[in-house]
Amino acid sequence: MTDRDAPLDPASMRKQYRAEGLTEADLAATPVEQFARWFKEAAIEGRLFEPNAMVVATADAEGRPSARTVLLKHFDEQGFVFYTNYDSRKARELAENPFVSLLFPWHPMARQVIVTGVAWRTGRDETAAYFRSRPHGSQLGAWASAQSSVIADRTGLDAAYAELAARYPEGEQVPVPPNWGGFRVAPEAVEFWQGRENRLHDRLRYVAEPDGSWRVERLSP
Ligand SMILES: Cc1cc2nc3c(=O)[nH]c(=O)nc-3n(C[C@H](O)[C@H](O)[C@H](O)COP(=O)(O)O)c2cc1C
Repeated sequence: MTDRDAPLDPASMRKQYRAEGLTEADLAATPVEQFARWFKEAAIEGRLFEPNAMVVATADAEGRPSARTVLLKHFDEQGFVFYTNYDSRKARELAENPFVSLLFPWHPMARQVIVTGVAWRTGRDETAAYFRSRPHGSQLGAWASAQSSVIADRTGLDAAYAELAARYPEGEQVPVPPNWGGFRVAPEAVEFWQGRENRLHDRLRYVAEPDGSWRVERLSP
């Protein structure tokens, strides 16, 4: 067996994380401000390829979970926004059960951020404004794909795209698909995880209080 054929054992992979930690005193007043700091550091210092890529976990009415990566497109004190197809599996699950978790896996910085909260659809005006900012090809793609449905092969997808490209040539305005739009996740809790030496990591979690303020608690690693 050559080295190339030898299986790679994940249990043999060990990385020592840096000592520099995250203290209560370091934290911003709100989790969104703290997220903005780390997001910038992930993009600039960490040079992460897509720091806005996040794992969105949903669950259906029976509590069966599912997860997938999507791109964060906007965030502010109201929440974290992503766009998708409203007939997709995630959107169907969110219609049954609006509780959601978002996870930003910023591994090269030994960091992760986990948001839990409730997802609401964005308004049609907000969706339309974002849709029009997308490249023409992505606008057509949103029409061409019945996201999450089983398809026989790729041919039908490519044919649907070609038909749309003929109907809406570059420069022509593409209408917003009625089954496409955003979700805004209003955070109820946001955890900032910083990897430390000897697996004694820092975990600081903001939890929303009924009066709109944030309580910060430290979790054992
Ligand atoms: C890096 C990356 C970014 C993605 N961004 C999005 C996105 O912004 N919106 C989206 O609907 N799907 C996005 N996807 C595809 C989703 O992971 C997923 O395949 C799709 O949304 C269907 O998921 P569902 O069947 O669970 O609803 C992305 C995938 C990757 C790997």
